[in-house]
Amino acid sequence: MPTAQGTDIAIVNIMGRVFMDPLDSPFRAADTVLAELADSIPVVVDFHAEATSEKVAMANYLDGRASAVLGTHTHVPTADARVLPEGTLYVTDVGMVGPYNSVIGAETEAMVRRFVTRCRCGRTGETRSRGRCPSTPFCWRSTPARVGGEASGA
Ligand SMILES: [Fe+2]
Repeated sequence: MPTAQGTDIAIVNIMGRVFMDPLDSPFRAADTVLAELADSIPVVVDFHAEATSEKVAMANYLDGRASAVLGTHTHVPTADARVLPEGTLYVTDVGMVGPYNSVIGAETEAMVRRFVTRCRCGRTGETRSRGRCPSTPFCWRSTPARVGGEASGA
């Protein structure tokens, strides 16, 4: 896909498998996908995984082969953005775009009821955003971003 500057980049989504449904190796999947891409195309990997250890392992596995490895799935932005030794930007979780006053994006009351009663109830809520907006692969900088709701100015 082209960036706003008109340069092509590849966005790759890889699913983790620790605490997730059984999947093939995300590491082998990454190798397969990266082998299909031209070396000149910057690659941003969305690593959708639960375990921070698996995310850090993937980032180090792809260090120097991907421009960025951005963790997703846990919905809470982490404050550990860093550039790895071979130049890959890594952050454990970029957060979410979803209701700020919620249970990771779901309507709070329904989710609390779900955990208390084990009833799978509704999942709605107002839209607010919070997360991390990485400026990659062209600028090694990431900016925490919170928009709307009580998070303003935080
Ligand atoms: Fe998820």
